Amino acid sequence: MDDFIKQYLEYNQQWAQDKQEEDSEYFNLLAEGQHPKALLLGCSDSRVSPSVVIGADLGEVFVHRNIANVVAHSDLNFLSVFQYAVEVLKVEHIIVVGHYGCGGIQAAMSNNLYGLIDNWLANIKDVMTLHEAELNAIADEQQRLNRLVELNVFEQINNIRQTSVFRKAQQNGIAPKLHGWVYNFSTGLINVIFGPEINSSASRV
Ligand code: CO
Repeated sequence: MDDFIKQYLEYNQQWAQDKQEEDSEYFNLLAEGQHPKALLLGCSDSRVSPSVVIGADLGEVFVHRNIANVVAHSDLNFLSVFQYAVEVLKVEHIIVVGHYGCGGIQAAMSNNLYGLIDNWLANIKDVMTLHEAELNAIADEQQRLNRLVELNVFEQINNIRQTSVFRKAQQNGIAPKLHGWVYNFSTGLINVIFGPEINSSASRV
């Protein structure tokens, strides 16, 4: 077995033992069920682990991740996670977490062909088309990429609003609160760009 795989499994044994010793009910409580307060949609990037950077313990956040934290209306995988989170788990918050330095966003902005993934990245190209004027006005490439990361978070929140699940929840007066965050893996800090605590007209694109 590769050394690092062996290390992971050894760590797991020790971790499970430590948890059990710390709190003999820890795993029993988790086994009884989950009551997460939030659904997190993040990027698959290994440097970005939303539950780690907000210190959420097991059972606290329901998580879905894909390349560039996209909400595609034909993606049954995300839509199923979303429906379960809203209708069964009744999460109170939905947090879209993008991140600066996102390779998916960078790839979408370039004109290179990457194969199958280009079809997924077309979702980001749609965001670019929607905000073409704003993006073209930014001369600095890094700043333009950072802005596209933010605009992508706004547009994925808009996509969430269009889903049948969200609209039904709204009709029933139980729509979760929507939040947009951008994580910076160079500093470890989250930039809050959208949410009920922010003046939405100022933060909207
Ligand atoms: Co990314």
